[in-house]
Amino acid sequence: MESKIQNYISNNRDRFLNELMELLKIPSVSADPAYKADVLKTADAVAQRLREAGVDNVEICPTAGYPIVYGDKIIDPTKPTVLVYGHYDVQPADPLDLWHSPPFEPVIKNDRIYARGSADDKGQMYMHVKAFEIMMKENILPCNVKFMIEGEEEVGSANLGTFTEANKAKLACDCVLISDTSLIANDIPSITVGLRGLAYIEVLVTGPNRDLHSGVYGGAVANPINALCEMISKLIDEKSRKITIPGFYDDVLDLSTEERTLLNQIPFSAEDYKSDLKIDATRGEEGYTIIEQTSTRPTLDVNGIKGGYLGEGAKTVLPSWASAKISMRLVPNQHPDKIQALFKSYFESLTPAGCKTEVSFHHGGEAVVVPIDTPEFKASSKAMEKTFGKAALPARGGGSIPIVALFEQVLGVKSVLMGFGLDSDDIHSPNENYGVWNYFKGIETIPYFFHYYTEMKQK
Ligand code: BES
Ligand code: MN
Ligand code: MN
Repeated sequence: MESKIQNYISNNRDRFLNELMELLKIPSVSADPAYKADVLKTADAVAQRLREAGVDNVEICPTAGYPIVYGDKIIDPTKPTVLVYGHYDVQPADPLDLWHSPPFEPVIKNDRIYARGSADDKGQMYMHVKAFEIMMKENILPCNVKFMIEGEEEVGSANLGTFTEANKAKLACDCVLISDTSLIANDIPSITVGLRGLAYIEVLVTGPNRDLHSGVYGGAVANPINALCEMISKLIDEKSRKITIPGFYDDVLDLSTEERTLLNQIPFSAEDYKSDLKIDATRGEEGYTIIEQTSTRPTLDVNGIKGGYLGEGAKTVLPSWASAKISMRLVPNQHPDKIQALFKSYFESLTPAGCKTEVSFHHGGEAVVVPIDTPEFKASSKAMEKTFGKAALPARGGGSIPIVALFEQVLGVKSVLMGFGLDSDDIHSPNENYGVWNYFKGIETIPYFFHYYTEMKQK
């Protein structure tokens, strides 16, 4: 098996890379309607690549939003079935002027592929297509495979729930395999055993019925931008950095001392962390390490703020409105609906006289913890140990993949989060990049997952 995989990769290395580069050229930005045709074109391209790799029953399944690409290979109904999930949509590339090369003209520099979507998630998703091709061509596919590649992950997977509910039989499987997370480092393999949830909110503060001269009216009339900033600053305690929304922490389950000790054993240098980001200090919740602050504790961040005059030069204006996009990362047992409601009533209560506040909800998702005593976790661990030469550490990811909780609730199966990116890949940022080494490491490791998983399930 080892030589089959390695020979196949070395004989097809350039093609495997070029195919990914082609996929990265299509700007599948799901958030921006201007890219609609490109998102749809990417779905077609993914479907075509699945067919070429030998996947059967490939379909582009319409949803109320962007389609889901499905395909399967059922070799024997008595064998286990792995559902591979990934996403073909990407984040917007802005701010464009900070990219060293255009986001949709992929280039390889210093053995890294630079392009929007290279790591999140086209590069990681495509590893599965190539690993499948190897298993087919080399006759080492040990079990059944289903692919479900969606196009709305970066905008909250709003239609995936309905699709999954409506297609339970089609999607029936023994576990879900996802590569959309990171390793601790290339020489410290890890498997993600937890993800944070999310509650995404937009707020609008309005004041006078029109923009006013800030000299004529300023001093008497409430300024909505000033008001919004005051309100936002009251959401986090200045000293403890705890979120002040009443009831916010009620459902948070504290980690045991053992769990915290284990988590903090992950090699980590606060000095390197700060120097990489060129900051002189971090500013997280009191009483928790940076690892905990970014993985096991809930957070609140303003993602964008708008209002007033934003053009060139100066304009004296007392604006009539201001708005902000605010997201909260949640931890296991916190519920996005409940948190949104708590946020709404508290935020509204902070509204100063002379202003009105409207709170609206974008998407939400629950946090997940993945158990490690399952055949799927053990198989991923064994596969990584085989190809990295050392045992993988269980690690918590700070990001969110809301569908993981959904797969558990609707399909009743656990997911394996076997990602090959690095936190330093700059996903969602300018100059997103993915290591060529990581791409091929993923392709090499995935067939072992299938092998060990089938072996463990059939024992
Ligand atoms: N792949 C990421 C999630 C991720 C990244 C998890 C790194 C762990 C480590 C995913 O594409 C993503 O960006 N998710 C969004 C949530 C979504 C609802 C928009 C996120 O985490 O902001
Ligand atoms: Mn992703
Ligand atoms: Mn993402």
